[in-house]
Formats: sequence, C-alpha cells, structure tokens
Amino acid sequence: MLYIGVDLGTSAVKLLLMDGGGKIRKIVSKEYPLYFPHPGWSEQKPEDWFEKSMEGIKELVDGCDKSEVAGISFGGQMHGLVALDKEDRVIRPAILWNDGRTGEETDYLNQKIGKDRLSAYTANIAFAGFTVPKILWMKKHEPENFERICKIMLPKDYLAYCLSGSFCTDVSDASGMLLMDVKNRCWSKEMMEICQITEEKLPKLYESYEVVGTLKPEIAKELGVSEQVKVIAGAGDNAAAAVGTGTVGDGRCNISLGTSGTIFISSKSFGVDRNNALHSFAHSDGHYHLMGCMLSAASCNKWWNEDILKTADFAAEQADIKKLGENQVFFLPYLMGERSPHNNPDARGMFIGMSMDTAREDMTQAVLEGVTFGLRDSLEVAKSLGIKIERTKICGGGAKSPLWKKILANIMNLKVDVIESEEGPALGGAMLAAVGCGEYPDVETIAEKVVKVVDTVEPEPELVAKYEERYQKFKKIYPAVKELF
Ligand code: XUL
Repeated sequence: MLYIGVDLGTSAVKLLLMDGGGKIRKIVSKEYPLYFPHPGWSEQKPEDWFEKSMEGIKELVDGCDKSEVAGISFGGQMHGLVALDKEDRVIRPAILWNDGRTGEETDYLNQKIGKDRLSAYTANIAFAGFTVPKILWMKKHEPENFERICKIMLPKDYLAYCLSGSFCTDVSDASGMLLMDVKNRCWSKEMMEICQITEEKLPKLYESYEVVGTLKPEIAKELGVSEQVKVIAGAGDNAAAAVGTGTVGDGRCNISLGTSGTIFISSKSFGVDRNNALHSFAHSDGHYHLMGCMLSAASCNKWWNEDILKTADFAAEQADIKKLGENQVFFLPYLMGERSPHNNPDARGMFIGMSMDTAREDMTQAVLEGVTFGLRDSLEVAKSLGIKIERTKICGGGAKSPLWKKILANIMNLKVDVIESEEGPALGGAMLAAVGCGEYPDVETIAEKVVKVVDTVEPEPELVAKYEERYQKFKKIYPAVKELF
C-alpha cells in the first residue's frame, strides 16, 4: 500500500509518498506566502495551506496506482492559532509559532497566573509563540473576532478538517497550546477557564497514529483516490520528524535545522524541566519528550545568504570556511526573538567581534556557529537535568550541509548520525499513516524497520576543545546585551 506524509511547514508544504516497505517513492513541495504585518508578527492564510496541499497531493499521486493509496497523515508547524466561525470560515489569518506579539499576555500568564500553576496544569510555562497567549491576545485586541470563535485548531488540524470533516488534533501538537494536561493527555479544565474557552471549541484529542476519519467523498473524487483512504491524526512537526529519524522510545535525540532549530529528546516516562526552559510534551510514539526550540535556525543562514549576500548558492559561501574553532566573530541568532532558553520575543540578532581582517566567510561561519551555540544552550539545560546524550540524529534543510554537521558535532560534542533521508516530518507523517492503517503494529516497530543510519560525523577532541572555549564566550554575550532589546 502507499502512504502520504504532509509536512506543513512555514515556507512550504512538502508531500511525500512512501510505500509499505518504507521506501520513499516521490516528494513534492509547494510554497506559500508568509506575512509579517508588523515587526515581530508572523501570519499565514490557512486557505493557502489547503490549496497548496491539494495541488501537491494531486501531483504526488500522479502516475502511481491510486487505488494503492491507503492513508494520509501530517507533521505540522506547531502552536499556530487557527480559528473558525460557526460557518467554518477562517476568522483571521493564522498567528504562527514564531510570532512575538504576545509579550504582555505571556507575562500575565507567567507572572499573574504564575509559572508554578501553569506547570502543574500543563507541564509547561507560557512562551510567546504558544497558542494560549494568542487566544488571550485576540480576546483583548480583536474582541469581535474572539466572540465569533467556534473552533480552535492547530495548522495541520485545519488540513485534516478540510480533508475528512473530523475536528481533531493529536497529543504531541496539542501539548504546545498550553491547554493540555500533558501528563494525562487530556484538556486542562483550569486552562480552559483562564482562556474562557469551552471544551466544544477544542478539537478531540487523539494519539498521533490513530485514525480520525476517511477522506470526504468530494475530496477523494478530486484527488482521484478511494473514499476509504484513512486520515490519521499526525503530529507536531518535531514529533513527526522524530518518528522520521527513529527518535522514539527512551533517551534518543534528534536535532532539526529547519526554519526553527530544535533539540528533541524522547522518553518513555513523563518528566518536567524544573526551570521550564525545555518544553515537556507528549510524543507521537505514545510516550513523552523534552524539547528546546530556537525560533531562527536555518532561516538565519537563508536570511544571511539570500537577503544580505544576495546569493542562492549557500554551498559556495561555505566553501572558503577553513578555520573551524578559531572564528573571532560571533553571531546571536535571535532574528525573530528567542524561545529556548531565553524566552524573550524582543531579543534580536547581532554580529560581534569583527576587525579589519574579518572576511565574508568569517561572517557566514559565525551564522552557522551562532545557531549551533544556541542549540548547545538547550543541550546544557538537558545535561543539567541529568540527561546523558552521546549521539543525535539530524534533519531539516541545514542537515544538507556537511560543514554544518561537522560544526554541530564539535560544538555539541555529540556523534551525529546521518540517516538516509533528512525528510523528517514528511517521512514521519507517512510512517504514522502506515501505523494507523495497520501496516505496522506501532511507531517503534516501523522506526526500527525504516530508518537507516548511513554515516556518522564524529566529534574531534581538539576541535571540541577549541569550540568549548568559544562557547564559554558566546554564553556571556546575551546576558551582557539583553538590556538593549
Ligand atoms: C516548536 C516550534 C517550531 C515549529 C516550526 O515548538 O515552534 O519548531 O513547530 O514549524
């Protein structure tokens, strides 16, 4: 049978067709616009997501035996607020995960409601990108829109709703709303009260590999596939990427270098970071995970190359980088503010340490290193909780660069296992669909079968030592400049 995985990303939707043996048959990608209506705001139109996904699915299944398509599932950008009215119309553009407008609401939640109570109700504290601060923002700034809300959902759930009519979400994605009791995998009554939202307005919660319905007949007809095609709940993009990289079960790590940068640590047992710097979320394998999230990762490199250097040839820019561990230039990667670990939507990017002999490639190198130092900040939090990690998988656009993988292995002092395909969320989505359709008994079994490590980048002790010294300096920069933001 064939399974479709949909990675609903921030710059594009990526669609992947996988067969029952886990072989990737085809990948299609469709871009859509991202809007920044004010500095620090970030929005997209859910209608664009659906339109481009439909276009992409048609192209994806074109040429295959369409009667073999058995299931479809998702890995979706997390935390975005999608609100529908009683006629199922989208009330306003979705407010995305990297939107920083909710500083006031986040402070209210963390300071007035209090971090301890939030953590007791949901296992997490408030971050500007999470969904609850956005609901409170809408209540205050757009009361007429807030009153019209009949359904609240996350980005990928909008696709599942349009495709199947099922008003649903999954526990991994719902964890990032600040509305779910993560430990018990159910909605939190206290948080619903704080938002003045009743449970009918929230989607039904599923495990990521559960079937939520089948395609609507008119959708099946338009796509030329069977009405029996199952729609499976899917996961937040990081939990889906973890499935696609085999980061399931206990104590495994995945690093994603996408628009955002995340470090994801799977765990069979529930646990909370006592300082709440790392998110404590449900995993799509039925268990839990801890995660640190940077708001700008490969997007820093894209910004630097495309917007500043005006080039699309990222590899050529990296070709002259030779002096690893010796760069005097530092880059703070906070172009959209920062989530983990600083929780500051007002933080901004910065180059520091240039001299007259600083070259273009030193700045490019500083961007790659700055993002990686930012990820190291989250790794340090995990280590402080007694978590021991020796190796990590890697996925996302940044994982295509051999140089970045080497920098990562040495700054993090981790063995970096490179897998056959870095298509994390889309592959994970297709794998969840295969589990939902019964092709595999559970997520761990399919991960064991499908995910293959093809190479390992080993840290080199001399370089690790040099980068350790650089990291100790990097760590001092944000505290020294944060008053400026
Ligand atoms: C995770 C997060 C990002 C988005 C990106 O908490 O906000 O990784 O999911 O799509």
